[in-house]
Amino acid sequence: MEAEINEPVVRLRGISNEFPGVLAVDEVDLEIMPGEVHVVAGENGAGKSTLMKLLSQVERPSGGEIRISSQPVEFHGPGHAQSLGVAMVYQEFALAPHLSVAENLFLGREPGRAGFVNRRTEKTDARVLLERVGLRVDPARLLSGLTVAEQQRVEIAKALAIDAKVVIMDEPTATLAEREIEGLFEVIRDLTSRGIAILYISHRLDEIFRIADRVTVMRDGKVVDTLPVSDLDEDKLVRLMVGREVANLYPKPEAEIGDVLLRASGINRGDKLKDCSFEVRRGEILGFAGLVGAGRTELARAVFGADRMDSGTVELDGRKLKIKKPQDAIEAGVGYLTEDRKVEGLALQLGVDQNITLASLPTSFGFINLAEERRIARRRRDELNIRTPSIRRRVQVLSGGNQQKVVVARWLETRAKVLFFDEPARGIDVGAKAEMFGLIGGLAKEGHGIVIISSYLPELLNMCDRILVMHEGEVAGVVGREEFSEERIIALATGTKEAA
Ligand SMILES: Nc1ncnc2c1ncn2[C@@H]1O[C@H](COP(=O)(O)OP(=O)(O)OP(=O)(O)O)[C@@H](O)[C@H]1O
Ligand SMILES: [Mg+2]
Repeated sequence: MEAEINEPVVRLRGISNEFPGVLAVDEVDLEIMPGEVHVVAGENGAGKSTLMKLLSQVERPSGGEIRISSQPVEFHGPGHAQSLGVAMVYQEFALAPHLSVAENLFLGREPGRAGFVNRRTEKTDARVLLERVGLRVDPARLLSGLTVAEQQRVEIAKALAIDAKVVIMDEPTATLAEREIEGLFEVIRDLTSRGIAILYISHRLDEIFRIADRVTVMRDGKVVDTLPVSDLDEDKLVRLMVGREVANLYPKPEAEIGDVLLRASGINRGDKLKDCSFEVRRGEILGFAGLVGAGRTELARAVFGADRMDSGTVELDGRKLKIKKPQDAIEAGVGYLTEDRKVEGLALQLGVDQNITLASLPTSFGFINLAEERRIARRRRDELNIRTPSIRRRVQVLSGGNQQKVVVARWLETRAKVLFFDEPARGIDVGAKAEMFGLIGGLAKEGHGIVIISSYLPELLNMCDRILVMHEGEVAGVVGREEFSEERIIALATGTKEAA
């Protein structure tokens, strides 16, 4: 019954998958050992998510062999993969928000015989599973009332419920705050100590070095190499991923800082925003730091007209704006790249070209210059290295990171004077991140005012002129570049008392 100690829990041999025009996964060999954290890294579109979908039987391989605990696996769909112990931690989408936590845990496989669901055992079992993933919530609560981090724990508990041998996590920290990431890593360590293998996709180098035992790097659908993390450093990993050196991850521009461009004063909204004020100057990059839920996104949304404010004013170039809805903000010259791009950002059925020019073209009523649209789209595609067989391809079939780049490209293309970028680097690979920050810096240099919201401090510390730190809906402080330090910002963000 017990597996041999050195027997891989998963073995892929020559696994391939082809989509129209793209060989997404190209003859991949991969072995996952019990109890290891195996990171799969690589540029956007390298084939990471597709590989996970092949293992979890969401996609059918066009060739090759999958073995789980030495047994060859037939393709019968995701349910079959689960029954063999392959669990996938989806973010948000897989769970049923209108059902309770307990119901979600046992969805499709309720305990009890002959199809009868025993609510009492369900509840007890749920408690045990939730305990194991460090989640203290009532199993009877509706899933929709939980935070994203809590919902993720439910997904992991679900993996335990099916007795998973390998748990796949595709960019699990993308929507988590720093503290929640710590918590996730604790859960991962607990799982691996029980012999469960974790297959983990991430673009964040710091994270990879903290959590990985081994790293497999993919490029263009192929495995470049699999190495123990101890044989890697950041430079080497980046070189394996992008096939070249990336000298400067955060190209901070030498922009001249001018007059105040945007001034937000006394913004209140329920108990989410309390008397928040800030200003952004021409050529300035202002950071919004703070824990998730501190109000950074809420503040941006209020200024942008995505949420109504109870009181407060917004001025642009000294003129008071009347912003009732996002369209008013856009027309006035304020742009906002949302953090949740999947929902708000993209017209999935439209082409890459149309999506890029969507925000810049509405001024030319009814008349769209197709040649110009394509020219712009091609230029942005090259700059941001958007991987798509054609710029007319539907955005829907691009990889996650490439979809995000399309949204970034769109906002780079607007005529907005002030641009809010909410978690702009989320899901974007390391090479493209440098390009993107370079382009954002370029906008500052052209005299735009930039606000970057990020949970990743190095990003803010490197790119910003000033950092505004939020804590529980209030502006806890604003720190100038000459006074930047991680400790200081964390102290403000966590509400730890310190000299102002
Ligand atoms: N359903 C699909 N139809 C057509 N092409 C697809 C489909 N899904 C993925 N692809 C293509 O397969 C390639 C690999 O995509 P995949 O999502 O596996 O990349 P990834 O490594 O996960 O990238 P990212 O880091 O951006 O998430 C991409 O070129 C993508 O456009
Ligand atoms: Mg992906």
